[in-house]
Amino acid sequence: MRVSIQHSEPGTIEGPRTRQPALLLFASALVFGLAGSTAALAAEAGGEAVYAQYCASCHEQVSPRIPTREALTKMSPARILRTLDFGLMMSIAYPIKRNEREAVARFLGKGKDEAALPASAYCKADRPIMSAASLGNWTGWSPSQDNTRFQTTERAGLAAADIGKLELKWAYGFAGDVIAFAAPTLFNGTLFVGSAGGAVQALDASTGCVHWIYQANGPVRTAMTVAEEGARKTLLFSDQNGWVYALDARTGKSRWKKKVEEHEATRLTGSLAVHDGVAFVPAASWEETRAIDPAYKCCTFRGSVTAVRVRDGARVWKTYLVDQPKKIGTTAVSTETYGPSGAGVWSTPTIDAVRGLLYVTTGDNYSHPATATSDAVIALNLKSGAIAWSQQTTPNDVYNSSCGSRGANCPEDNGPDFDFGASAMLVKTADGRDVLVAGQKSGMVYALDPANNGKLLWQTRVGKGGVNGGVQWGMASDGRTVYASVSDVVRPAGTMGAAPIGNALLDPEKGGGLTALNIADGTKVWFAPGIPCAPPRPGCSPAQPAAVTVLPGAVFSGSMDGHFRAFSTEDGKLLWDFDTLKNFTTVNGVPASGGSLDGAGPLVAGGMVFVNSGYPRFGGMPGNVLLAFGVAK
Ligand code: HEC
Repeated sequence: MRVSIQHSEPGTIEGPRTRQPALLLFASALVFGLAGSTAALAAEAGGEAVYAQYCASCHEQVSPRIPTREALTKMSPARILRTLDFGLMMSIAYPIKRNEREAVARFLGKGKDEAALPASAYCKADRPIMSAASLGNWTGWSPSQDNTRFQTTERAGLAAADIGKLELKWAYGFAGDVIAFAAPTLFNGTLFVGSAGGAVQALDASTGCVHWIYQANGPVRTAMTVAEEGARKTLLFSDQNGWVYALDARTGKSRWKKKVEEHEATRLTGSLAVHDGVAFVPAASWEETRAIDPAYKCCTFRGSVTAVRVRDGARVWKTYLVDQPKKIGTTAVSTETYGPSGAGVWSTPTIDAVRGLLYVTTGDNYSHPATATSDAVIALNLKSGAIAWSQQTTPNDVYNSSCGSRGANCPEDNGPDFDFGASAMLVKTADGRDVLVAGQKSGMVYALDPANNGKLLWQTRVGKGGVNGGVQWGMASDGRTVYASVSDVVRPAGTMGAAPIGNALLDPEKGGGLTALNIADGTKVWFAPGIPCAPPRPGCSPAQPAAVTVLPGAVFSGSMDGHFRAFSTEDGKLLWDFDTLKNFTTVNGVPASGGSLDGAGPLVAGGMVFVNSGYPRFGGMPGNVLLAFGVAK
């Protein structure tokens, strides 16, 4: 079923062509053609030649999505090798031989090797794991399965009057990383958090001491979702390479590990949802960017949800959100094209136990034919995975990264790249109704009726929207109000490629903003505009792409300029502001600094507030720190 929803202010939607400056991402990234000619040279000449052949075309260019060469040199050779072997560059590294990998890692990496953590970083016997009262928990992407990112005063352990008194209690550094993107989880006094280096750590929430560290195969940005079966506590999460893991929360030992999606471009970003002994794994992919190579046969990845048994990882069902792709034609440069493709699920599924449904939100199609399941909110049957209904908000959004430079793989009539990156929230209103609320990169927020096949209840524009605009990673709701922050990052037209570093292009005055909407009808209650960077400096952006969090009295929102702020739920007034853009002394002895706040949002529980800082994508600033705040005594 497909119901097309009208944008309320279509005039403010940017057309595909005008967005091009933001899309030049991979304009000159066409290394692929060079491969044969210089391969022998690279093997002989060592790291510099390998870099020139396989890396420079991306890392030397100004692009919002690519860390600069300078950012890479801060990493250790071992860390870069890990990135090539089973990290974010794995697919780029496929054709690169072992000795070449080692050579380029040595050539680039000037950072220190990650020494083992000092013994002083580990918890002493007087701090046993998961020994605190279970009151203040936050057990996945959201404290509850409705994905509202709402914490009660009791569970938060913070009254509204406490917010202004928050101070830094401790900082923890992610060894060797330039990004801190994993959503933290708190369970009975223990904080569980992944990292780009694939290290999953269990930390004491009040002191930051380490209980255990588990090394995953790939970068981990999902939250650890806690599944409880009596005394048996299992942490479920996935990595960016397609693996799903179950760990014994107490020991950090693996219970099982399974690859749920075989497509080589798979990228698992949304956290797992768990219900009744079954975990639901959302899948998205990198394939959208593969398409910049004119020789790449675009596209074959299909967004999906896989249901697996918590106990042993056995598959219960798997639902693809588009049909099996077929050959559909050839491009202007005679590369075969395939479709349908895309409709990736970037966010955490939402559980509706009452209706027996699982709600997911999807991204765009990468190739034709367009499907009714892209840029949609979709309800799946919890038991069977069958699609119960689907509400598409942006039809015909066929887009891939080649469109930035109108490359051969870009469809003639490409769409606006208005993915959903945020979960749908199942909000229980004061009058006992359920409302499903979803925010999109288009800058629109939609309220759907879960009791009536997702029928549209209201829609409100909260931002301009764009490829890196609108609602990116998550909203929050306390049942009365919906809090939606937007990115709406602005790169002045024509500046792409002009500055030596990618983040020098962001507008320091424009972007960001937090809107409070009445859950009943979507009317605006208040609007807190983005706070311009002070002092204004190129490369700093007030954009607020990170997921937000609410507790009675305060909404927490991070911005790309590194500020972490709390706003009053009553009127949007600024209550508290902490600038994370600095170096921190860490409890684990790892040198760490803050950067942009993006992706996963803050966690509030048990009298403390936790947030990651560092996100050098989309023009953001690197950082590798986890910060823990508590009320000043
Ligand atoms: C096609 C473009 C492209 C090429 C070619 C490329 N990279 Fe990257 N690289 C990226 C992008 C994009 C990211 C950021 C990925 C992300 O964080 O989403 C990145 C990130 C990285 C990171 C940081 C990963 C992390 O875990 O934080 C390292 C290290 C890296 N690249 C090394 C290399 C090396 C070494 C080469 C050459 C062998 C290379 N890259 C070639 C696009 C490229």
